[in-house]
Amino acid sequence: MSIETICCAADEAGIARAAALLQQGEIVALPTETVYGIAADARNGAAVAKIFEAKGRPQDNPLIVHIASVEMLPGLVSEFPERARLLAAAFWPGPLTIIMPRGPEVAAECCAGLDTVGIRMPSHPVVQRLIAASGIAFAAPSANLSGKPSPTNAQDVWNDMQGRLPLILDGGECQVGVESTVVSVVGEKPTLFRPGHITLEDLERALGEEVEVSGAILERLAEGEVARSPGMKYKHYAPKADITLLNGSFDQFKAYLEAHAAEHPACLCFTGEGEKLGVPYIEYGREGDGEDQAKHLFRCLRALDEQGDRVVYARCPQKDGLSMAVYNRLIRAAAFRVIDL
Ligand code: TXA
Ligand code: MG
Repeated sequence: MSIETICCAADEAGIARAAALLQQGEIVALPTETVYGIAADARNGAAVAKIFEAKGRPQDNPLIVHIASVEMLPGLVSEFPERARLLAAAFWPGPLTIIMPRGPEVAAECCAGLDTVGIRMPSHPVVQRLIAASGIAFAAPSANLSGKPSPTNAQDVWNDMQGRLPLILDGGECQVGVESTVVSVVGEKPTLFRPGHITLEDLERALGEEVEVSGAILERLAEGEVARSPGMKYKHYAPKADITLLNGSFDQFKAYLEAHAAEHPACLCFTGEGEKLGVPYIEYGREGDGEDQAKHLFRCLRALDEQGDRVVYARCPQKDGLSMAVYNRLIRAAAFRVIDL
């Protein structure tokens, strides 16, 4: 079934329209500071189910609930643990999702049967204004079709979601470009489930203790290992291209491309490098600058898709600090193929 989709500016009229749709149990796409999301009232199971249908998302992958103030937490969480309070004080509003014990009012459809819920308070003004206008805490995954890179502008949302939801609010480009950091404060030790703009070091500084890094962040989930965050087990960010990360210097990268010219490869490289490589290229950000790379990565992966399938070699980002988030997304796009040069 195809729905008529409208894309409009995220101004006062657009936000009023989105608020009315949320109140009617409909879904809407909107910008956040990380990536675009698809929102539905987190307390309305039938509304939340529409998100899964629109995205083609596996039912066992839980959604994050978005709030505008900590006063909205009662009912959504059964406890606001001390560690969560410290993290909220340091990073909310902002690109951090905190996994906490689930409250009774969150629709079962949000949580995939888990007794925990991820809560995030975005800093984006459109989210703040939409919640103020609707009074609704909303569940929202990224606004891509399941398996595609997350969208960072309204056009990319349109390309995936046109005909699948009634409204897309256009709020321009997302500032961060990769999804929020996900940290769990349920269980003995705080644990990083997904790296993002808020880094491991940021979390440890705010908590004053070590944060465990869950498996599957920097490598493939081991055979038989259970993902602690369901999202980690899916082949995410999968472009049509056959991507391989090459870990080494620029000169080694260039030599490797020359040695594999028969494959007619394209490349994903750092800013300023493309012209020197002699093959079709897309530059995804400045070398060593995780923030810049994060901002452009998903648009670049989509641009690769638009060129069809081909062999692509990618320059490898660092694995620490802000680059951890970029590396985490890129190795998934590369189906974990990394060659050390
Ligand atoms: O930046 C973001 O977080 C964006 C914007 C729209 O807010 N949202 C987003 O949602 O990225 P989504 O659904 O694409 O990713 C949510 C991730 C998934 O990997 C999911 O498995 C994990 O968070 N997650 C959600 N609830 C969880 C829970 N209770 N326990 C463990 N992992 C959870
Ligand atoms: Mg997603």
